Amino acid sequence: MAANDKNKVTILKLRRQKKEGKKTVFVTAYDYPQAIITDGAGVDAILVGDSLGMTTLGHKTTIPVTMDQMISSCEAVSRGAKNAFLVGDMPYMSYQVSNEEAVHNAGRFVRAGMDCVKVEGAMIDRIKAICDAGIMVMSHLGLTPHTRAKLGGYRVQGKTAAQAEIILEQALALQEAGCSFLLLEGMPRESASMIAEKLEIPVYGIGAGDKVDGQLVIFHDLMGLFWEFKSKFVKRYCEAGQIMQEALKQYASEVRSGEFPTEENFYAIKEEELEKLLGGGNWKTERIVYETDQGFPTNHSATPNTTTTVKKKDKE
Ligand code: KIV
Repeated sequence: MAANDKNKVTILKLRRQKKEGKKTVFVTAYDYPQAIITDGAGVDAILVGDSLGMTTLGHKTTIPVTMDQMISSCEAVSRGAKNAFLVGDMPYMSYQVSNEEAVHNAGRFVRAGMDCVKVEGAMIDRIKAICDAGIMVMSHLGLTPHTRAKLGGYRVQGKTAAQAEIILEQALALQEAGCSFLLLEGMPRESASMIAEKLEIPVYGIGAGDKVDGQLVIFHDLMGLFWEFKSKFVKRYCEAGQIMQEALKQYASEVRSGEFPTEENFYAIKEEELEKLLGGGNWKTERIVYETDQGFPTNHSATPNTTTTVKKKDKE
């Protein structure tokens, strides 16, 4: 962050938003153009999620995603996002093995331009070690995809009072360990609301109702770029995939019909070089002269050995 970057969203702004009851807007992004689009839309925070595996790399789960893939994605996002608060998602087995590995890998995210790392589960020791190293942590509770097998699959969590109490206890312990934010995934709104109220740190939700301090949505879900499944909590704001495909169909049709490329897409060659090129007799080429809007050709010089085709320039 540049010293004079007054529009940069910091932990101070995010904490203030919780205090003032202002909702935080949080979305994922995985590359440079997505970072420019999301940051330019004025979102508060961007998660470079390991959902990268599913949205971008075509995996069925997040489990195969590696540290190197995450770091490369984080670097691209941090180049494109000027103001948003940036959170890097620690992938499977990047924090589970030991405190040392967890801190080392969290440090790689900070070097890649992230303001904070996200860690799944109530791994108090690991999270405390990362926080003690001076790195901000967002904990992720509820439906935690890294331990989905233990949860019996992708199932909504905190559906009973007892389950919700356990998640609350974990959340309080994580806050105590130094965690700066909490993300709740896949929970009833009432359970998530109770946790958000009891915690001092901002609590965001993805599929956790409307009574939390902000919402996270996956970029591809929101934009209509993910087709494998659609979770109940997802709202599509556009069908970008369809829009892109229509554009590509038009491109294909114009290439096939010769409508694209046209004069405005061509690079110019100097007249004398063209004379040399055509005068040598080695080339069987055609001089194409475009008509201007006034209806006369822009290039009048005649060259022996070439045929001249006059094409009408399309109206702008
Ligand atoms: O990777 C991700 O995008 C996430 C969200 C689903 C919470 O972890």
